[in-house]
Amino acid sequence: MKIFIDTASVKAIKEAACLGLIDGVTTNPTLMAKEARNPEQVLKEICALVSGPVSAEVVSLESAGMVNEAHELVKLAKNIVVKIPLIKEGLKAVKILSAEGVKTNVTLCFSSTQALLAAKAGATYISPFIGRLDDIAHEGINLISDIKKIYANYNFNTQIIVASVRNPVHVAKAALIGADIATIPYLVIEQLIKHPLTDSGISRFLEDYKKIPQVNNAK
Ligand code: E4P
Repeated sequence: MKIFIDTASVKAIKEAACLGLIDGVTTNPTLMAKEARNPEQVLKEICALVSGPVSAEVVSLESAGMVNEAHELVKLAKNIVVKIPLIKEGLKAVKILSAEGVKTNVTLCFSSTQALLAAKAGATYISPFIGRLDDIAHEGINLISDIKKIYANYNFNTQIIVASVRNPVHVAKAALIGADIATIPYLVIEQLIKHPLTDSGISRFLEDYKKIPQVNNAK
């Protein structure tokens, strides 16, 4: 499973990139607002750091406006993917952009039928938001299995980005289902690495090692 980082923070992306495990980046208007900087400048800096796909979201609600924004966004860097909301106008825009060869990430997907339509429109990626479904007492992860099955039934090439990931269990379940990608906040990436038994195991090994007389004598 590919791992994208879900942030617009250049600092967080730099830190995560050091791990060598980051395959791409997703941003959205809320994440951009947290940076309080010029979004185009932020995107240019991110694209210079990461060679994989970097999703940048449009804010227009009409297909013509979305297409115009997409044309401007793709000029920023060759790895920009245009994020389009899953509404009627969004699907129209995806159809136009996919015919032009512009890569799209259809966002704010909450149902398998929405995902079916996005794939039919030619979306490169679909982003089902599992955490937000959990928030309203639905099992968000079930949506990932449903979409995976539907896409396999019809050989769609649209890749599933598990989005709105809130914890390591979401990541483990996404990987078990065989999702193509999970886009993960930096904090959760750190949680994936850590295990209390790893930490206590290291402490115990180091304590035991100090007990070897030859090690002490050598000092
Ligand atoms: C995905 O592309 C979105 O940026 C993100 O995963 C939304 O997550 P949230 O529901 O935690 O805001």
